[in-house]
Amino acid sequence: MSENRPSWTSRLTFILAAVGSAVGLGNIWRFPYIMGQNGGAIFLLVYLILILTICFIPLIAELYMGKFLKKDCVSAYESISTKFKPLGYLNPITGVLISSFYFIVGGWIINYIFLSLKNAQITNYSEYFGIFTQSSISTCIFTLAFLFMCIFFTARGIKKGIEFANNVLMPMFAVILVGLIIFSLNLPNAHLGLEYMFKPDFSKVNAHMLLAALGQALFTLSIGMGALFTYGSYIKEDKSITKSAYTIIFSDTMFALMAGIMIFPAIFSFGLEPSSGAGLVFVTLPYIFSQIPHGNIVSSAFFILLFAAAVTSGISIIEVPIATMVERFKFTRTKACVLLFCIISALAIPATLSFGILNNFHIFGKNIFDFFDFATSNLLMPLNTLFLCIIAGWFLKIKGHLFLKNKFLAKLFDIGLKYIVPFILILLLYIGLR
Ligand code: PHE
Repeated sequence: MSENRPSWTSRLTFILAAVGSAVGLGNIWRFPYIMGQNGGAIFLLVYLILILTICFIPLIAELYMGKFLKKDCVSAYESISTKFKPLGYLNPITGVLISSFYFIVGGWIINYIFLSLKNAQITNYSEYFGIFTQSSISTCIFTLAFLFMCIFFTARGIKKGIEFANNVLMPMFAVILVGLIIFSLNLPNAHLGLEYMFKPDFSKVNAHMLLAALGQALFTLSIGMGALFTYGSYIKEDKSITKSAYTIIFSDTMFALMAGIMIFPAIFSFGLEPSSGAGLVFVTLPYIFSQIPHGNIVSSAFFILLFAAAVTSGISIIEVPIATMVERFKFTRTKACVLLFCIISALAIPATLSFGILNNFHIFGKNIFDFFDFATSNLLMPLNTLFLCIIAGWFLKIKGHLFLKNKFLAKLFDIGLKYIVPFILILLLYIGLR
């Protein structure tokens, strides 16, 4: 079986794919809006602390387990103990649920690419966003188009596409972001946005915010749903994964910070509400573009590059259920892709409609879109990460000296994996969900 598994052509391809998985809508779309809903700077502080301390451990453990076991998540968990099989299944299930809202946002981007290319003149962007997301048919078509593209790349083999996207498109994306940051920082009242982002208000600390910061940290680093596990399982050679982990964390955090510094000054300058939710970026950015000379060209380039970043992440999300279907159920890759397209569509269409005709349908007080987002980032990803740490630390007995040369850090890793990270995950889940 393992001879037939796909594998990366080089270590670089793997790193690029893993960074491509991490940097995506989580950084540019989700990070600013979740931060806006959770008190700004204090959220950023907790998020950064979590990323720089505890997230590093499950990130390495997930990559290492994949590389070591060289199987899809379900078979890998089962190979450790049959009791873990259901926990293995939680990974592709989480992937399917994430797809069911992630691809909707991908669909919005396609619409904004068309708008920019057409140079459409819109006077009120927040009104426009509301009307657009309510229009059931077009949003469904865009969602399915985005899903189709990701599935298409996955079906065709992904190495070349990912390599191109990351080598060429990501640096271009960073350059455009820097340009927009400079513009944004020169807007009137920009300093209010920076204060909102960097001056923590400790009175805003609460359990929900802590869990939201954890959810965002895991989501943005692609930890806790098998994506890194699956990508790790395609590593052929016996090279260390520590450098890859640093690269993922560094580039992902830079992109998120850049997105924040671009968006918050503009929000305050235009008198918008940071806590306005999932449409935040889709209202603020077009506003900025409309103020820039030749804004439609910048806007087209921006949304095309954001699209590329979203596709490389989208591919990594669906690779998890695909790997499971191919390896466990012996489906051909094409058959697995077709089946997955149907399953995700069946969930994504109601979620798309939750902004329109289904907006009165609520699950635990949230519309379907928000529910999928919340349930995956704040519940399933922390839970999967918890199970991963327990299995890696207590059953596989993965040790830090395998990837960390520094003895002290290696010891810290061992204690972190077995005790500290599981404890913090349980604590945040407990207090955040109460
Ligand atoms: N990390 C990706 C992003 O920031 C999303 C993602 C989540 C990808 C989980 C894979 C697994 O957009």
